[in-house]
Amino acid sequence: MKVKLAGLELASPVVAASGTFGYGIEFEEIVSLDRIGGFVTKGISLEPLAGHPAPRIVQTAAGMLNAIGLQNIGVEEYIRKKLPPMSRYPRCNIFVNVFGYTVADYLAVIERLNSAPGIAAYELNVSCPNVHAGGMAFGADPGSLEYLVDKARQVSRRPLIVKLSPNVTSIGQMARIAEGSGADALSVANTFRAMLIDVETRKPRLTNVTGGLSGPAIKPIAIRMVFEAARAVKIPIMGMGGIVTATDAVEFLMAGATAVQVGTASYADPRATERIARDLESWCKSHGVAQVTSLIGALEVPQE
Ligand SMILES: Cc1cc2nc3c(=O)[nH]c(=O)nc-3n(C[C@H](O)[C@H](O)[C@H](O)COP(=O)(O)O)c2cc1C
Repeated sequence: MKVKLAGLELASPVVAASGTFGYGIEFEEIVSLDRIGGFVTKGISLEPLAGHPAPRIVQTAAGMLNAIGLQNIGVEEYIRKKLPPMSRYPRCNIFVNVFGYTVADYLAVIERLNSAPGIAAYELNVSCPNVHAGGMAFGADPGSLEYLVDKARQVSRRPLIVKLSPNVTSIGQMARIAEGSGADALSVANTFRAMLIDVETRKPRLTNVTGGLSGPAIKPIAIRMVFEAARAVKIPIMGMGGIVTATDAVEFLMAGATAVQVGTASYADPRATERIARDLESWCKSHGVAQVTSLIGALEVPQE
């Protein structure tokens, strides 16, 4: 079940996604942290952030809409309180999701994390749809993306994974820009900008008006985006969007992802990441797949 990604070895290609797995340590009594490929932390900023006022999560027909607003404890407290107990799980890769309002913010977070032990890689969040500055403002503009990734690459002493926004016209173009600016891998993708209305009050369901849609509702679009990104670049891709079962994960691998992330599914079943990792192993056994890596890009496309 081992895969290699950006110079790292993952015990399984299944990883828990940012914003749905806390800082990892909160899950130690729920999930066997050594059995999953790793996890991505909630987006971490230089200073602590309170996020948006409630309501900031709404269930939808096949997923959820969120506008958390990047609530987090800030990089100092993360390093002091949340990171040290994770040394109990040396096989579990820790991917730290990095967020900033400005380029200088992103770089300051990375510089501070560089001196902290035990982190596998950084996932640069250039794709949060729920904040007015930073986030998607970088990921949706080619020039800003190129500038930020280039600067982050110069500062980072660890592998740099760039998490792309699906709210763009050409994911292939953004993937190529991130690769050309020094990304070691890509995460495809973040949530889709969306909104819901309460017809009785005539008000938006979220205080923030708009939010990000995730869960099974986005899976077919996310698979198409992973497929297009994988054709555009040579660096590995972590695919995500609506993965609930092992066969969902197989679809993303076949579309060209080297690893997958599980997000919203953890809200319904906190053990989802471990369950999908275990079921993927069984799926491979029952389908005569000796190495999970043989599924990567295994899609057979009829001749165009
Ligand atoms: C409540 C919630 C919070 C999230 N917070 C973050 C975040 O802080 N940083 C980030 O890059 N992505 C964040 N995401 C996006 C997920 O990591 C993932 O890209 C997206 O939800 C698609 O996967 P899924 O359909 O399996 O949830 C968040 C998603 C949810 C549902």
